Amino acid sequence: WSPFVVSAPGKLILFGEHAVVYGKAAIAGSLDMRAYALVTPRADNKARMVLPDIDVDVLFDSHTLPLLQSTSLSHPSEVEALVPDSINIPEGPGRTAVLTFVYLYGCIFAERDRNTGFTICVRSLLPVGAGLGSSAAFNVALSATLLQLTGQLREEGAGAGDRKLINQWAFHGEQVAHGTPSGIDNSVATYGGFLKYVKGEPSVNLESSHALRVLITNTNVPKSTKALVAGVRALRDQHPSVVDGILDSIHSISISAAALFQSVGEDEAYLERRMQDIIRINHGLLFTLGVSHRSLERVREITAARDLASKLTGAGGGGCALTLIPGGIAGDDVEVVVREMESEGFCCYQTVVGGGG
Ligand code: MEV
Repeated sequence: WSPFVVSAPGKLILFGEHAVVYGKAAIAGSLDMRAYALVTPRADNKARMVLPDIDVDVLFDSHTLPLLQSTSLSHPSEVEALVPDSINIPEGPGRTAVLTFVYLYGCIFAERDRNTGFTICVRSLLPVGAGLGSSAAFNVALSATLLQLTGQLREEGAGAGDRKLINQWAFHGEQVAHGTPSGIDNSVATYGGFLKYVKGEPSVNLESSHALRVLITNTNVPKSTKALVAGVRALRDQHPSVVDGILDSIHSISISAAALFQSVGEDEAYLERRMQDIIRINHGLLFTLGVSHRSLERVREITAARDLASKLTGAGGGGCALTLIPGGIAGDDVEVVVREMESEGFCCYQTVVGGGG
């Protein structure tokens, strides 16, 4: 076989974070920042995974690989026990990547008598741990690679059936990485575009013909998603009807956003203005839930001074904010905003949301 490249995008939660935990709708879109896997054959029947961005270079030899293939796991959380002593597992994100490889290789190659030697090298433009779905992009690229190597993908360029399979395995990869993920990240990385997501239901692709230009600002302030989710829960325990009213409002924002993405015939400037309205309102509601942060308020102030709308994205408490860049704004004005953000110690990425999976 010939070398091939697989890529998958990161994700941005546009609306509905935190409310989604309580069964409300969230809207997420794919980023034009992607993870890329280059897969090349090797003659020695070994498998090597190289992730230069996070210092991983592991080699599974021809004794280890059949072992991985023959061990059945009932749940991704059991994977630690499978890693042979000969494999040096790094710490940090590299550890998660190696465990995911072991799990997905073992399951996808199980009971297949293919002796395929390969090297997979993954590079990513997505910052790790910033809430932009870097692990889901990696898991989609890895799952597609392993399915391709075992001849399980049918359609050139991955059609609907292939994507369903890739998404299922990528979700298992996410379970290795995050325990009990909602599934929104791997769905966005597989299908691309804009998705409406409600916990426990299949995600709905909004089939939007729109794409959004967005400035993502990483405040570089570390956050704990677990603590922030727990904080909202504690507030809701104290003030159930008040907090439920806020969560319902966030739900309505997601529904309005879905309608805007699906609208046809409206001019883009009108859509952008409505989108800016709901971005501002959604951020205000998240602020009242106590999940903003000084750094995120600074982002909001800097952009509001130029009539731009920003909101936190993901868990809040630091992490990233998004700012809608309207079509009419001059590139120089965006550069001024970027420089102001950088002088606060933040990093910015200009990106387009809603591209392919
Ligand atoms: C975190 O990216 C999004 C939250 O809604 C948590 C979750 O959905 O699991 C805050």
